[in-house]
Formats: sequence, C-alpha cells, structure tokens
Amino acid sequence: MTIEVRNEQTGFETRENFRTTIMKLDRPGDPSVFGQSVRADAQAIIARYPAGQSRSALLPMLHLVQSEQGYVTPDGIAFCADVLDLTKAQVAAVATFYTMYKREPTGEFLVSVCRNTLCGLLGGDEIYAALTEALRIGMNETTADGKITLEHAECLAACDYAPVVTVNYEFYDNQTVESATDLVDRLRAGERPAPTRGAPLCTFKQIERQIAGFFDETSLAADANGSGVPTERGIRLAVERGDTAPSYATKPQPSAASGAGTSAPAKSAADQPSAAAAQQPTSEHDAPLDTAASDPAHPAKPEGQKD
Ligand code: FES
Repeated sequence: MTIEVRNEQTGFETRENFRTTIMKLDRPGDPSVFGQSVRADAQAIIARYPAGQSRSALLPMLHLVQSEQGYVTPDGIAFCADVLDLTKAQVAAVATFYTMYKREPTGEFLVSVCRNTLCGLLGGDEIYAALTEALRIGMNETTADGKITLEHAECLAACDYAPVVTVNYEFYDNQTVESATDLVDRLRAGERPAPTRGAPLCTFKQIERQIAGFFDETSLAADANGSGVPTERGIRLAVERGDTAPSYATKPQPSAASGAGTSAPAKSAADQPSAAAAQQPTSEHDAPLDTAASDPAHPAKPEGQKD
C-alpha cells in the first residue's frame, strides 16, 4: 500500500510504502534454479556450524540468496528450506523478521537514510524527504532504471556522524540535503562515490555475498578503516588523562594470610574456590561464565559422565 504524506514543515510530498509482513509467495518456489556453485557455497556456510545444527546457517544463507537474486524470492525460500531441512514457513518467518532481507527486487544501490532521533533532528528527515522527491520513489521502492532502492532506517550505529546515509551499508557521514542528493545523482550517473570511511562501494549483490561470509579480496574491505576521529575521541581523552577501565569484578579469593594470627584452621585444597568459581562475576546483572552449571534445565554432570 502506498500513500502520499505531506511534510508540513518542508512542504515535501513523500510516498510511504507500508509493507505487510507477508512475503510475496505467489508461487511455490523452485530450489533447482540455484546451481552447483551456489549449493557448494551453501555447504561451506553450513560447515561453519556444529554438526546437526545446520538451521543456524539460515541467516547467512538468506544473504547468499540475496547475493544471487537481489532479494529473498520464493525460489530462495524453497532453496534455504531444502538445504537446511526446514519448512518454507520457518524460512519465511525469519526472512520477514529482519529488515536486511528484502522482499522485492533491490536496486544496484540500497540507499538507507537514518531517521532515528539524533539523525532525524539533525536533518535526516529532510534528507529522506528530499531523496523521495528527487528519485520519485518512496520507502522500499526502486527507481525505474534499477539503480537505487530507497529506505529510511533506524539507528545505523554512527550517531557521532549524524545525519548519516549508507549505500549498501557503507557510510556517508554528516550528510546534508545537498550532499545526499548529489550522492544519488552520481550513483545514477554510474559513478561510485567513495564512502566517508570503510571499504570502497560495491553493488548490493556483492555486499550481500560478503555478508554471507565470502571474502572478496578485490573489495579491499580487509584494509578498510571504519572508524574516525569522533569515534576515537573517547579513547584519546582517556589516554591523555591516564584513565583506565576498572578491572572485571570477581569474587574475592581468600588470601594465604587470611588465617594468620587467628585460631581458624587452614583451609584444605578442597575448600579453596575453583579457578572457574573465582572468575564468576559478582554482579547479579552479569551473566554467569559457566552457564551449564547454573542452568537448572541443564545441570552440570559429574566429570566423566556422558549424556
Ligand atoms: S541516530 Fe542515526 S546513526 Fe544513530
């Protein structure tokens, strides 16, 4: 459903495409459209997980599907279900939960405009409105030339560079209406403007393959520096001031001298806390380090006992 929205402050007309959470499963899907090389890639993904837990591979598998077809198609859902021994309903349920899995064909460049609180207040709302106007598309829509898909996004974890825009998840920091409009103009003209930081820009399908865990040496991603001066300001200040982080809290260990001068008998080795117990956090808000021992559903078994 697409509706027109007028921003009274800016005067911009924007189109909002409110997607339902239902995938377009207008046909059963054919897993055989994925050839041998994709099936080999799928097996490489599954091999990253413990035997018998192949379903854990579903998230990178969905990215692999997007690297091939540009979005999660009925074929992609059938393929994931086939390879991971899941039902198509289970695959679709996961694919519709995360916004990184697209339900319609995605353009060569996915432009995401942060409209969360900080970016929105500092200009993200105006940037998004300007891009809908310039591209004549709304949320999750793609330009007719297939170049750009536009979306507004929640916090992109770069608030120190607000307002931010990402293209295929690469950062363009401290944007303005003018710079963001220039960015999409250049993308449509066939240019690849360099991100403010991080790896060089690649296509949506290429970045999806990387997110699926297949390293691409030509992407130069391994050498890319994703941080910047604002990100590191806290560390620099701490170094200048000699600040250090407090050490991780552990239960106090009885010292050898704790019994000296008293009538208390010396503790035997069996009374001493184990090294693992000594590492347990003292705060009740910290997760225990040894979950098996603390989880009543999975009590620790005596040494040597097997399931
Ligand atoms: S609010 Fe935009 S990156 Fe956090």
